Amino acid sequence: MIVKSIFRSGLFAGKSAIVTGGGSGIGKAITSELLYLGCNVMIASRKLDRLENAANELKTITPPGDDQPKPKIEFMECNIKKEEQVHSLISNTLDKFGKLDFLVNNGGGQFYSPAKDFSLKGWNAVIETNLTGTFLCCQQAFNQYMSEHGGVIVNMVANMWNGWPGMSHSGAARAGVENITKSLAIEWAPAGIRINAVAPGSTIASQSVKDYYKFDIMGQQIPRVPAKRLGTVEEVSAAICFLLSPAAAFISGETIKIDGAQSLYTTSIPWEVSGRYQN
Ligand code: ADE
Repeated sequence: MIVKSIFRSGLFAGKSAIVTGGGSGIGKAITSELLYLGCNVMIASRKLDRLENAANELKTITPPGDDQPKPKIEFMECNIKKEEQVHSLISNTLDKFGKLDFLVNNGGGQFYSPAKDFSLKGWNAVIETNLTGTFLCCQQAFNQYMSEHGGVIVNMVANMWNGWPGMSHSGAARAGVENITKSLAIEWAPAGIRINAVAPGSTIASQSVKDYYKFDIMGQQIPRVPAKRLGTVEEVSAAICFLLSPAAAFISGETIKIDGAQSLYTTSIPWEVSGRYQN
């Protein structure tokens, strides 16, 4: 498996991370880069076969350079909605690696539905996965390890800044995650913990975005992105590695948008043609 990183080899040597949803998409990209930089990684999700396949592929990753120890990859089934399963995820990771430096709360998901059609069960499932699940992982990481040793947490939100029609359950949950990111940044700073979020938009070419919609909407978005291209899962991973690294030592409670300025591109006269309307 070919992995590249802008960061120096060995940057995360001797560190240990949990990446929820680490078997696919953005989660797999961040797991790959962490391993490449020397970090031991536990990946977790509800899909054991997908995790196992991913771990078999990811274990071939070797940090560049002769002097770098080979990091370990482990996997574990975990439904982040269930407190006892999250408890086991953290305690098993501590058993395997002896420490937990980084938590990347990437696991989550949603399904398209007009708000009028939600069942309460569907609504609750999305709130519980994205908001409660992220919170439980943060809380267990804090209570079992980070309160005593510090650590860095990165949460995942979305491009929900102007509402998220068709995904209003997830928009509400992700806005909640952005807010707990700020609360915990303040509450847990005395313990030496930093917590931030990244906000990839639908302009990141990940499998999950492709799967949400019946038709291929990836290419159709390009004219509405100022950068005039889609983003990649590797570009999300690089931002997460930055936030985990000492380069972000004084950044906490922040959310970084990774969308090529797409969410800012809301003027009714498009910038590209605005010159034509000048006197
Ligand atoms: N990814 C999507 N839903 C999840 C869940 N409930 N637990 C872990 N990973 C998930």
